[in-house]
Amino acid sequence: MVMKVNPYEVEGKIDYDRLITDFGIKKITDADLKRIEKLAGETHHFLRRGIFFAHRDLKWCLDEYEKGNQFFIYTGCGPSGPIHLGHLTTWIFTKWLQDKFGAELYFQFTDDEKFLYKDKSYEEIQEWTRENMLDVAAIGFDPKKTHFIIDTKHAGILYPEAIKVAKKITFSTIKAAFGFKDSNNIGSIFYTAMQTVPVFLHNVLHKENKPCLIPLGVDQDPHFRVSRDVVEKLGHKKPAIIHAKFMPPMTGPEGKMSSSNPDTAILTTDDTKTIKSKINKHAFSGGQPTVEEHRKKGGNPDIDVSYQWLRYFEEDDQKLEQIYKDYKSGKLLSGELKAILIEKVTKFLTEHQKRRELAKKNIDKFILKL
Ligand code: TRP
Repeated sequence: MVMKVNPYEVEGKIDYDRLITDFGIKKITDADLKRIEKLAGETHHFLRRGIFFAHRDLKWCLDEYEKGNQFFIYTGCGPSGPIHLGHLTTWIFTKWLQDKFGAELYFQFTDDEKFLYKDKSYEEIQEWTRENMLDVAAIGFDPKKTHFIIDTKHAGILYPEAIKVAKKITFSTIKAAFGFKDSNNIGSIFYTAMQTVPVFLHNVLHKENKPCLIPLGVDQDPHFRVSRDVVEKLGHKKPAIIHAKFMPPMTGPEGKMSSSNPDTAILTTDDTKTIKSKINKHAFSGGQPTVEEHRKKGGNPDIDVSYQWLRYFEEDDQKLEQIYKDYKSGKLLSGELKAILIEKVTKFLTEHQKRRELAKKNIDKFILKL
C-alpha cells in the first residue's frame, strides 16, 4: 500500500525520511538533543530513541528561551472515540516539556472537527470530549499551568480569531493540503482555521509575544504548514513544532493505531485481563513459527510490535538493549517478550486509571476560564 500521511489518512509503511523531505521539516540532530538535554537538565527516552524525530524552528524557540522569552506549549486531541496508547506518546512528552521548562500548556479538544469529519452525532462527540478530557488530565499536567480549550464551548473567544485566519486561506490551498474534493462539507474546509487559533491565543489574551511550541504526531503537520505563513501575516510568530512518529499498531508495522478498530490498539480503559489477551492474541510477532526454529535463527525485534512498544515503556536503555540482543539471538522467546510488555503496560495503565478516576472530581480546574 502506498504511503499516505495527512490528518485524515495514515496508510502504508511510513518512510520518515521521505516525510522529512516531503513536508520540508528538519531532522532532530545529535546537537539538538544535547542542547535540549542541557536546558532541561535531563533527556527523555522518546528523544534518545528518535520517537520525536523532526522539527520546525526548534532552534529559534530554544534561542528565545535562553534569552528569557519563555515559550508556551500547544497540543490537542480530536475527541471521537476512546483513547489508546498511541495517543499518549505526544501527551507524555508534552508533560515532560511542561515539567522541565515550566511552560504553560494550551490543550485543544476539537469537538467541532470530529463532529464535522465523523459519522457521529453531536451528543456522542460531547460524550467523548468528556471522556477524553479525563485521560488528558490523568497524564498529570499541572492544573495551574494547563488550559483546556473545547472548540464549541470556547467558540466566543476562538471565532473572532478563526475568521481572521480563514480570510487568508483559500479553498484551493485546503484542497491541495488535505486532498479535499468539492463534495467535502464546508465545515471541514473551515476547520484548519480553528486548529490555528491556539498558536497565538495566549498572546492575544495576555497581550504578550511568546513563542509557541507544538508537540504533535507528524500527521498533524499539514494543518500548520497551511497556517504558519498565515499567522505571520496576522502579526504573530510562526509556531515551532516537534514531530513524533506513530506508535505501530498492534497488528503490524504499517499505518497507525485506531480506536475504531480495537484489535489494533490498547485502550486506556482496558483492564488487566483485556491487556493480556490483546497482546497475546494480536501483537504482531517477529519470532519464528516454532521454538526450535526461534532458538536457532532468533527473532526480529525491528518488526516485532512487543519490542517496538517496549521502546516506549522501558525507560532503561541497558535493559532495552539486553532484550533486543536476547530476542535477536533466540534466547528470549516471543511469549516471554510479550510477558515483559504485558507487565509494563499493565503497571502503566493501572496508575493511569487511578489518576483518571481522580480527574472526574477536578476536571474543571483544567478548563480555560471564559
Ligand atoms: N486535530 C487533532 C486530532 O484530530 C487535534 C488537535 C488540535 C491537535 N490541535 C492540535 C493535535 C495541535 C496536535 C497539535 O487529534
